[in-house]
Amino acid sequence: MDFASQILKWYRKEKRNLPWRSTRNPYLIWLSEVILQQTRVDQGMDYYLQFSEKYPDIEMLAEASEQEVLKMWQGLGYYSRARNMLFAARQLMSEFNGVFPRDYEQIRKLKGVGEYTAAAIASIAYGQRVAVVDGNVKRVISRLFGLKNTGNDLYKKVKQIMSEQINFQPPGDFNQAVMEFGALYCVPKNPLCDHCIFFDHCVARKKALVEKLPVKVPGKKPKPRYFSYLVINIREENSIVMRKRNVNDIWKNLYDFPLIETKKALSAEDLQKEPAWDVWFGKEQQIRGSSGLYRHQLTHRTIIAQFHFVDKSSISELSLHENWEIIALENINTLPLPRLIERFISTYYPSEYSDI
Ligand code: ADE
Repeated sequence: MDFASQILKWYRKEKRNLPWRSTRNPYLIWLSEVILQQTRVDQGMDYYLQFSEKYPDIEMLAEASEQEVLKMWQGLGYYSRARNMLFAARQLMSEFNGVFPRDYEQIRKLKGVGEYTAAAIASIAYGQRVAVVDGNVKRVISRLFGLKNTGNDLYKKVKQIMSEQINFQPPGDFNQAVMEFGALYCVPKNPLCDHCIFFDHCVARKKALVEKLPVKVPGKKPKPRYFSYLVINIREENSIVMRKRNVNDIWKNLYDFPLIETKKALSAEDLQKEPAWDVWFGKEQQIRGSSGLYRHQLTHRTIIAQFHFVDKSSISELSLHENWEIIALENINTLPLPRLIERFISTYYPSEYSDI
């Protein structure tokens, strides 16, 4: 079976017409690959279009503020991707004269650019023969060649097969063909084997292993984190207290609310017995009401959050702690917000949310 030429033939016929496929601009290809790393094409498309319109080149991105870039990224998750891209754009301006490097090793030096992204850019933008290995590629190759390896062994084996197969083919097309095949036919559940061009050759299909490959190693169960948020309304100012998250934790430099995190879920009553409550509000302050529980799933964590409303009539009644900022309700939407906070605001402050 000539895997490489078969899959290229398939790709030329059936590939999706995607905006980053009609360019050789390394910056745009970089952007598309960073977005697609953790996001499906249908979810990532609008972000790609808006981001590339607002920051059409490296220089425009390098000049943007981090807050603005995070805002553009809002809802995509994995925000370090956006922070790293901004950092790397500035690195390109200062260390590379604003010119995207051509060489795989040089591309790898950019912040946040790992083996996968560097290989994708080098092959697609510059035609270099470096094979990509991502989740789709691992699935296609492990099934087709019947590989039962896991973890780094699987990665190495797949890389080796891809590197052999990429010879004599246009490398960027070959890499994208394998990824595209994994996205459209050789999908994780109910792959389209009956219509597959490799029906007669696929080792996994012949041995009835399609659903078993690639072999999954059970991941760790996500750990819960319990967040009690304090939504402090300042009535006279039509404002609310928000907090810029600047610790090394999830959502760095995005905005949420003053937060008390505990090892167990807390009732509103118990929350008022927490030491932080005393520091922030003293003994007299009451909670006016509380939201229901919000669950928010991250890769390794499940956040269980509840929002508690606290009223203040004016700013003078409040002392500001750790990065608290008073934000006019009408401006909430200009800040970069984690999805969890966006969900809360869309329910409890729908008029401020309406133009997202
Ligand atoms: N997934 C990530 N990058 C891709 C690309 N360039 N083509 C198809 N699927 C992808």
